[in-house]
Amino acid sequence: MGQQAAPVEETLDPQDWSAMRALGHRMVDELCDYLSTVRERRPWTSVPPATRARFEQPLPTSPRDPAEIFNEFRAHVLPYPSGNIHPRFWGFVMGTGTPLAALAEMLAAGLNSNVSGFDDAATLVEAQVVAWLRESLFFPSASSGLLVSGGSMANLVGLAVARNSNAGFDVRAKGVQAAPRPLTLYASVETHNSVRKAVETLGLGCEALRLVPVDAEYRIDLNALRAALAADRVAGHRPFCIVGNAGTVNTGASDDLHALADLARDERLWLHVDGAFGALASWSPALRARVAGLERADSLAFDLHKWGYVPYEAGCVLVRDAARQRMSFDVAAAYLAPARGGLAPEGPKLSHLGPQLSRGFRALKVWMALQEAGFDKLGRLIQQNVAQAAYLAELVRAEPELELGAPVPLNVVCFRYRDAARALDEAALDALNAELLVRLHEDGIAVPTYTRLRGRYLLRVAITNHRSRRADFELLAREVVRLGRELLASRG
Ligand SMILES: Cc1ncc(COP(=O)(O)O)c(C=O)c1O
Repeated sequence: MGQQAAPVEETLDPQDWSAMRALGHRMVDELCDYLSTVRERRPWTSVPPATRARFEQPLPTSPRDPAEIFNEFRAHVLPYPSGNIHPRFWGFVMGTGTPLAALAEMLAAGLNSNVSGFDDAATLVEAQVVAWLRESLFFPSASSGLLVSGGSMANLVGLAVARNSNAGFDVRAKGVQAAPRPLTLYASVETHNSVRKAVETLGLGCEALRLVPVDAEYRIDLNALRAALAADRVAGHRPFCIVGNAGTVNTGASDDLHALADLARDERLWLHVDGAFGALASWSPALRARVAGLERADSLAFDLHKWGYVPYEAGCVLVRDAARQRMSFDVAAAYLAPARGGLAPEGPKLSHLGPQLSRGFRALKVWMALQEAGFDKLGRLIQQNVAQAAYLAELVRAEPELELGAPVPLNVVCFRYRDAARALDEAALDALNAELLVRLHEDGIAVPTYTRLRGRYLLRVAITNHRSRRADFELLAREVVRLGRELLASRG
């Protein structure tokens, strides 16, 4: 028999490691240049049509030089970010990130660990991070926790555990359609829409989520909550959970979490707290009282990619009773059964605490970021943002052509431009402020976003930005007045 030629075997590793190394150095250099000069650029610029067209290329079927690909990134991606790393970005509730955590992402991708609970260091890093977060939020050391993609996923996981633990029957086996009595849960009308998404995803139907009115401070009305619970019990429903807010998306309001914890205890309900950003106010001793009681939650959802200043994606869910979290997601399989030793021995599996099996190494950037700053400094930065919100509110109060739209309990300021003559009606004010917001974005001034409260259109500034300075808020207030006058004049 003649000798067969060995097949050509390929790899995705570079042929020229020194060229890859040089490109990597260039990427790091350029990233540091970019981040250190961020203030000099506009917060946001619309992607021009020619650039949009660059992203309609045919399927790439053959290799391309990595340096060329990076150049394309520099030319067509880098100039058009959403802008949330800029000091004057205060839209939605977005995070700023840090340079070290960005580099950690590169290292994490290099290791490419699958953090589902093996005998490896990445799993220990995540366990360490969760232990720090638990301690920083005054959760018991026996509670469990998991890093997830963000607040939406943390709410989904927390509410899944709530449903499975407190439905009164075996939901995992029978499904929600087997409920002898319709399950209901309770949250204020100010609750983030990710809670509704979670409720729908969990098969409960959004009508099961009873939206309770709020008081003048946008906190859940406890009497209305008690009345809703009583009415549902009389009607034969089975209330199983209350969702409290530590920092609502619209105004930063926090419910009376101690009162909710007392009520949940008395009514045998699960208390889930959505503390997407507000929970981290606990990191500041000066602010802790504003979200007091969150440590009594059965489950707590929060983000690190918002007020933790860590780059996307990084959220966390903590569950007081670790067994309940495991009992919600633990599914045995022969190919995942623990061995007597080796890489996958007996022991806690992170994949048993949430829906994901394969999980990325998002813990590395969190581990680095938390140590680089330390919790004391992070607490001070959070306090700095709250002081900036109070300062902006002061500027608004001092300016007759600006009007505050809601109390400012934390880091969110809602306000609007008002004509000095008070000649415009509500509809005209809504339209004028909506136009004004677009001008702020498109003129490259700043990026607040907006909301509606009690029917009014309001500019909304949510401050989770470690790069913002008081002068940025002075500029915002000044520019809103200038643009307001200009738009008013152009209306004739
Ligand atoms: C109060 C609140 N809950 C939940 C979320 C959803 O978090 P994420 O965007 O990380 O999924 C947000 C996002 O802004 C929020 O403000």
